[in-house]
Amino acid sequence: MIWKIAVSSRFYFVRVLVLTGAGVSAESGIPTFRGKDGYWKNLDPTKLATPEAFARDPQLVWDWYRERRERIGNARPNAAHEAVARLARRTGEFLLVTQNVDDLHARAGITAEKMVQIHGDIFVTRCSCCESSYVGRGGSPEPPGACAVQPTKGRLRSIAPTFGKVANLPRCPECHALMRPGVVWFGEQLSRNELERVEDFLGGGTCDVVIVAGTTATFGYIIDWALRGSRNGAELIEVNPEETPLSRFATKQVREPAAIALPRIVDEVLAEHLRL
Ligand code: APR
Repeated sequence: MIWKIAVSSRFYFVRVLVLTGAGVSAESGIPTFRGKDGYWKNLDPTKLATPEAFARDPQLVWDWYRERRERIGNARPNAAHEAVARLARRTGEFLLVTQNVDDLHARAGITAEKMVQIHGDIFVTRCSCCESSYVGRGGSPEPPGACAVQPTKGRLRSIAPTFGKVANLPRCPECHALMRPGVVWFGEQLSRNELERVEDFLGGGTCDVVIVAGTTATFGYIIDWALRGSRNGAELIEVNPEETPLSRFATKQVREPAAIALPRIVDEVLAEHLRL
């Protein structure tokens, strides 16, 4: 498949897979999970990021996700996000698979068809029971009308203290069940639709370059996708100040922060793959 070189901006005949994690958003002020001062260093994921935790204390879980939404809302994409967006614009066949639930890749200009948010999107609010879901960027990520019930009298009044605890939580406008953040929690399945998109890309031919940035590669599927994407001798570039289980497979290990390294690496990849 020959990609036409648009006169105005050059397309590069290169097939690229990029896998990112929390480290690429660290320089935008978003904590990682397992790095220094990472969320899981101080917080217990079994109390905040599992379906059981939500069933046990939905208020606690919502408080944490609302605090994260606010922090992300006040953050800005950094040079790492912008470099990945530039690579996406300039290459014919490109897929970004990010574990990040923030919207910084999207705000840097990556389009939805070139990105898979494999752990979901924090700005989606979906029903914990039915299929109803709501995406709120910029404005409130919680659907209007997902109003809570104000216990005014009778039995509800008597349990108001505990009921009050979930009173200001979003409820599904369709079935009235509690709504939850649209992220994938520990112990939950990944979205079949998103998995299919990754498989379709990997099945569409080997990549020329695979870049893995800012992740501990904790989950086996991240390592699997990086290795399958880089089979047949493709470049596998790891960008991470620290070693990870993927490092020994990388053809290039870049021990630098992503916002420093990725703009340069993108220039190099494009320069290397320029074909007239
Ligand atoms: N540039 C590049 N890498 C960085 C930077 C940076 N500026 N800062 C930190 N890192 C690296 C750390 O060395 C670490 O290897 O980013 C990695 C962050 O790892 P994690 O905190 O484990 O984040 P991630 O790999 O994305 O976690 C995967 O686990 O908790 C769940 O669902 C959550 O999506 C998340 C998943």
